[in-house]
Amino acid sequence: MALPFTLAGPADMESHVLRRPVRAPLHIRYFVFSFAIVVSIIWAATGMSLAHADGLAGATLAQKGSSGTPACMTCHGANGEGQAAGGFPRLAGLSEAYLLKQLQAFSSGKRKNAIMEPIASSLDAEQMRDAADYYASLPAWKQTVEPDITSAQYALGLKIATEGDWSKEIPACFTCHGALGKGVPPHFPALAGQPRSYTQAQLNAWKARTRTNDPIGLMQMIGGKLTDPEIAAVSLFLENPSLAGKGK
Ligand code: HEC
Ligand code: HEC
Repeated sequence: MALPFTLAGPADMESHVLRRPVRAPLHIRYFVFSFAIVVSIIWAATGMSLAHADGLAGATLAQKGSSGTPACMTCHGANGEGQAAGGFPRLAGLSEAYLLKQLQAFSSGKRKNAIMEPIASSLDAEQMRDAADYYASLPAWKQTVEPDITSAQYALGLKIATEGDWSKEIPACFTCHGALGKGVPPHFPALAGQPRSYTQAQLNAWKARTRTNDPIGLMQMIGGKLTDPEIAAVSLFLENPSLAGKGK
């Protein structure tokens, strides 16, 4: 690390007199060494707080909104957990890259939604990054309530998610979305814990080709092959997935 001063002064004078280089006395070198350490620590601490600034700005946006932007939490929940009743998706713990991609898609009109298009368009590029950074940092979904694994609908959802249906060329959801739908960042979003109504709406949107911002049409292809009862079943399962009923 470069210091804003040198010890050349007295040493140079001395060396000029003695005609050979003289190093600074040991106690001065120790002092300079300690000073350098203190400066590095302060510098590192400032750097760290700058890195956190994004998340803080994102938290403010989420909780208070900003001029022209409503607080995200009114729909997405106090901790980004989503709201089942409104079909508002969970954002907490989704990957930053995926969240950012969706905000950009709403803003450019590539992903259609009457509520999110104007909200995303009200954000500048930095606010989008802040919001994505903040929600990605919140805890991912964890099971808190045991699902009813005995229902036939739940069992069908489990089968689609873990095995797919190869007679119809439907791949298992978890091959891309990770074990138990926990997501594989950055491209494959977590599905576990999403409100059932939200997952159902997305699958229907791909089937109807009204959501088309997925890479190489992967989800349009899959959504198009699922029947309505299959969509309902897998959406129910993914809201609270458990492998407890597997093989039964
Ligand atoms: C008035 C309610 C409302 C508010 C406020 C709101 N959202 Fe949304 N948001 C929605 C709805 C509804 C959807 C689902 C859209 C769809 O079905 O495609 C959504 C979807 C999203 C998604 C896509 C999630 C996914 O899994 O693909 C992101 C990201 C998002 N919102 C971010 C935000 C951010 C950031 C804010 C605050 C700046 C915000 N939202 C404020 C209603 C809202
Ligand atoms: C071949 C890989 C692949 C498979 C298999 C797959 N998906 Fe996806 N899925 C994706 C990708 C990629 C995305 C992200 C789309 C985007 O970037 O907008 C996605 C997104 C989704 C979303 C949107 C999540 C959100 O937060 O908006 C849902 C819901 C979904 N998939 C459900 C399923 C279900 C249900 C299955 C099984 C029937 C499945 N997927 C199988 C690749 C896959």
